[in-house]
Amino acid sequence: MTATRGLEGIVATTSSVSSIIDDTLTYVGYNIDDLTENASFEEIIYLLWHLELPNKEQLKELKQQLAENMELPKEVIDSFKSYPINKVHPMAALRTAVSALGLYDEEADIMEKEANYRKAIRLQAKMPAIVAAFSRVRKGLEPVAPRKDMGFAENFLYMLKGEQPEPIEIEAMDKALVLHADHELNASTFTARVCVATLSDVYSGVTAAIGALKGPLHGGANEQVMKMLSEIGTEDKAEQYILNKLKNKEKIMGFGHRVYRKGDPRAKHLRAMSKKLTEITGEPEWYNISVKVQEVFTSQKPLPPNVDFYSASVYHSLGIDHDLFTPIFAVSRVSGWLAHILEQYENNRLIRPRAEYTGPGMRQYVPVEER
Ligand code: CMC
Repeated sequence: MTATRGLEGIVATTSSVSSIIDDTLTYVGYNIDDLTENASFEEIIYLLWHLELPNKEQLKELKQQLAENMELPKEVIDSFKSYPINKVHPMAALRTAVSALGLYDEEADIMEKEANYRKAIRLQAKMPAIVAAFSRVRKGLEPVAPRKDMGFAENFLYMLKGEQPEPIEIEAMDKALVLHADHELNASTFTARVCVATLSDVYSGVTAAIGALKGPLHGGANEQVMKMLSEIGTEDKAEQYILNKLKNKEKIMGFGHRVYRKGDPRAKHLRAMSKKLTEITGEPEWYNISVKVQEVFTSQKPLPPNVDFYSASVYHSLGIDHDLFTPIFAVSRVSGWLAHILEQYENNRLIRPRAEYTGPGMRQYVPVEER
């Protein structure tokens, strides 16, 4: 038995949800470029869960179900006040709150297909509400109740800021949600599938996935990108900053990918959005610094930017706190996690790989007095 480090290149399951073939990403057969240009996030949720795009009626029904299920149990909001709220990272708060949501869902442990679908709706709807409510409570503000007349992206921004977002902001958030929704067997999706393959419940699967997404090698990279851009501060300092990091053998966040070789197809959409939004906000430096970082880094290493690189300046331009960038990723990716969880339940087998043993050979126990 020989191990493959990080399971690179190992095909661990079949899936009909999304694919990465020759650097092209598709959701259920639709190219991500096509979907980013044309589809709303609600259409993507439906596509991932039903493997078909919705018709008008189906889309209307899903939108209504999501809007009606956004409100959080009071206990979950109250529990924020018991956290060390100014020290807690919002991803840790989100992980804890999603786990807590399971405590108040009477169907949490009912494993029938319809019950699991209802839980998927509830979880998808409540994730943005958790992120928004936590963000407000830690600032000493009251959570803002969701509105039934607003779409998903609009409601999310409205609950975060407490005011009607601009059309350009809604469009940018909607596209960002579309772009992050699913990504084949990425680390957090694999985590979710491993968890529910023991026939554990949907809440456990999503809680585990949030934990995996939190790390800086995965979803946590977007916050680290903004930290780097802020440290660089001005375009003229980018070159020295990146060269120093590389000299110290440090990784540059937002670059490289386990699967893509020529480049992450999502990055170009976020790059274009970053250019547009930073011009509108009158802070083009964030885009300019990003472009300079890309230029310097790729001149040293042939690793193109991934989804996390330009999403940082996009979210910053939407006025979003930097430590909420990864939670936004989770608000979108939960649609993919849920699709994979539902798919796993449909054709389940316990996921239990092997390890190549590299410890000492057979030994004899020695009593503690003799050691
Ligand atoms: N900066 C500098 N060097 C890098 C980077 C980077 N961002 N990424 C890879 N390398 C180098 C790495 O040092 C190694 O060099 P060497 O062979 O000389 O030791 C080589 O490239 C292979 O790297 P690896 O870490 O073994 O590659 P991997 O396939 O295990 O990792 C990755 C993929 C995404 C974790 C890695 O590229 C990385 O750490 N990138 C920065 C973090 C990041 O942006 N993560 C987001 C990933 S995409 C979206 C998501 O999943 O959330």
